Amino acid sequence: MIRQRVTVPSILERKMSRSAEQNAAQRITMITAYDATFASIVDESGVDIILVGDSVGSVVQGVANTIPVTLEEMEYHVRLVSRANPRALLVGDLPFGSYQVNSEQGVRSAIRLIKAGASAVKLEGGVNMFDTISAISRVDIPVMGHIGLTPQSYHRMGGHRVQGRADNREAGGRERLFEDAHSVEQAGAFAVVLEGIPRQLAQEITQKVSIPTIGIGAGPDCDGQVLVLHDILGLTTHELKFTRQFADIRTASIDACTAFVQEVRSGQWPDDAHSFH
Ligand code: KIV
Repeated sequence: MIRQRVTVPSILERKMSRSAEQNAAQRITMITAYDATFASIVDESGVDIILVGDSVGSVVQGVANTIPVTLEEMEYHVRLVSRANPRALLVGDLPFGSYQVNSEQGVRSAIRLIKAGASAVKLEGGVNMFDTISAISRVDIPVMGHIGLTPQSYHRMGGHRVQGRADNREAGGRERLFEDAHSVEQAGAFAVVLEGIPRQLAQEITQKVSIPTIGIGAGPDCDGQVLVLHDILGLTTHELKFTRQFADIRTASIDACTAFVQEVRSGQWPDDAHSFH
């Protein structure tokens, strides 16, 4: 079956038809990918959106959080993923330091990810990013917002901590998160990631905003769900409450490499059938 390319308008439509029909099948799915091979695998699953996330820092580069990831590195990974020519919408993550200075910096960085092959960009922040999201949207680059547990705010949060539990308007407080969601919507974002917030709060935000919410660690009531590919495949070793291993590719990979090592050492590999004559 030939799948239609997923576009920004088609993602927006999903929210409208989901709200009208309360249809679970309309839920939006998003998975991360960082290279062409995995992007083609992810795309074959029929996922709606491939996110080239700055989670590349932890799952590919081996750093503790997303802060060190650079714009040049994100451009490189967006380019690799776009070579898979996915039918899924390709969203590129703006890394820390590439849009926080001012909205002009945000527009320049967004243009670089679009030239590398992304169809939209994602950035973290709510009320404080109103001008930047507006400016990027004004030059016709679709923006996905990201509020709640925003990993680039690692130092303010004091680690990766669930947000929206305190009933106040401080950054990360419950009331502030409603304002953040509203601000991202008003600034022109076409969707917003809700990360690491209580289920009830995510449900209320989802009901209040007109754009699709895509949750991670935000319960089942969002308009869509996202997970990091390496967690889905069981390639990562950490166990987090909000994620799930849908396969154990790490064990399968270790087994395959172990078999290779043993067969070379035992003289079984390579055999005559795999040799040139
Ligand atoms: O970088 C990333 O992978 C993300 C998702 C977890 C939403 O931002």
